[in-house]
Amino acid sequence: MTDPVSEDAPAQAAEATPFQLLGGEPGVRALVDRFYDLMDLEPEFAGLRALHPATLEGSRDKLAWFLTGWLGGPNLYVERFGHPMLRARHLPYSIGISERDQWLTCMGLAMAELGEPAGFTEPMRERLLGAFANTADWMRNRKG
Ligand code: HEM
Repeated sequence: MTDPVSEDAPAQAAEATPFQLLGGEPGVRALVDRFYDLMDLEPEFAGLRALHPATLEGSRDKLAWFLTGWLGGPNLYVERFGHPMLRARHLPYSIGISERDQWLTCMGLAMAELGEPAGFTEPMRERLLGAFANTADWMRNRKG
């Protein structure tokens, strides 16, 4: 009889989750912090920033908890708030093509700035940006 534990271990090692590859919770937090810092700083994201509360501390926590689970780590967001229902939770904000694209550009910039030392190799950035693009597009609730 084969030993399921020793058989499973190499497969798990070969399929490290993005969460693991990006350095776990501190890695996710660094991404979220850079994302919101850029949103705060860069004039090109002013429209996106204006949709958010004056202080971004709560937004940082929620996005970090959500992305931790989304990237294959523990489900910190679900533990606190239940099902994410992301589209419903974004309905209070008017989201069209411009808001979607600002969000994706801001996230792409944050990943590029953190770069390879933080695990954001080009294939990783492409993979994540593709997944972010699907989610962000699903969040649109306004024509144009
Ligand atoms: C498409 C453009 C997007 C816009 C304009 C947008 C905007 C916002 C705003 C204004 C909030 C409220 C922040 C707060 O309450 O502090 C929010 C919350 C949130 N957003 Fe987005 N967002 C976008 C896309 C995304 C994407 C792609 C994700 C995930 C990959 C995401 C994940 C979240 C999460 C987890 C929350 C917290 C929800 C809650 O518990 O209230 N958002 N977003």
